Amino acid sequence: MRNVNQENITDAVLDSFANTPDPRLKVIVDSLVRHLHSFAREVKLTEGEWSKGIDYLTRVGHITDKKRQEFILLSDVLGLSMLTVCMNNERPLGCTEATVLGPFHVDGAPHYNLGDDVANGAKGAPCLVRGRVLGNNGQPVPNATLDIWQSDDDGLYDVQHPGGDQAQARGVLTSNEKGEYHFRSILAVPYAIPHDGPVGELLRASNRHPWRPAHLHFIVSAPGYKTLTTHVFRNDSDYLDSDAVFGVRESLVCDWVQKRDGSFLLEYEFVLDPAE
Ligand code: BEZ
Ligand code: FE
Repeated sequence: MRNVNQENITDAVLDSFANTPDPRLKVIVDSLVRHLHSFAREVKLTEGEWSKGIDYLTRVGHITDKKRQEFILLSDVLGLSMLTVCMNNERPLGCTEATVLGPFHVDGAPHYNLGDDVANGAKGAPCLVRGRVLGNNGQPVPNATLDIWQSDDDGLYDVQHPGGDQAQARGVLTSNEKGEYHFRSILAVPYAIPHDGPVGELLRASNRHPWRPAHLHFIVSAPGYKTLTTHVFRNDSDYLDSDAVFGVRESLVCDWVQKRDGSFLLEYEFVLDPAE
């Protein structure tokens, strides 16, 4: 191909990938090339804009480290993370729906016994969380693992605090023989996703806010069932209709009841989908 022009370049690039041995990689690269080229044609991309785009992605890479994943954040605010979750986690009616993982999950969080306080000093109104883990026929799921994490009253996860080496408001619990779980933590509040980098720049340039509605994260897993990554949202929270990362699903929004002593109670039943 020595006479490349606007009309033939897409086919030339597709031909160059024709011998890709991995069939799935070939499908993905071919589609990526076709969509990238049609995107450039549709917006009539200028050289200056191409350069700005390269600079933007370079800055997304430079701010990314072990504690800050700006690429995931970018995928989140573009709705790509939630689209991928929705496409890959269709659940039968009655099973708990999935939502985005987000960048603040930490592998190897401390294990707690049922009834323990996972806040471990995190600031916030006390909140008791309890419920059951069930299978899709209503049967209790004993020994299910519940990996939970949340932000504190300042809207920050433990890992966002300077030093942030101590696990706070995160932990792993196991359901009992009746599928029940309960633990103490703090009340979730709305918080802004990190917006002091390139993703924040994009949000500001688009008149979008960085806020997420109040939620508690869960990964619920048990042998014989598909692992569920989800959140439970507060139904009295701001931003339920404008979540910066498009993660809200009606079935995950519920009442967090305030008790007479000022503390809160969240009750939630997880219904797991059997593994194939
Ligand atoms: C979170 O809920 O922790 C989260 C999700 C997406 C982007 C930022 C934070
Ligand atoms: Fe979160």
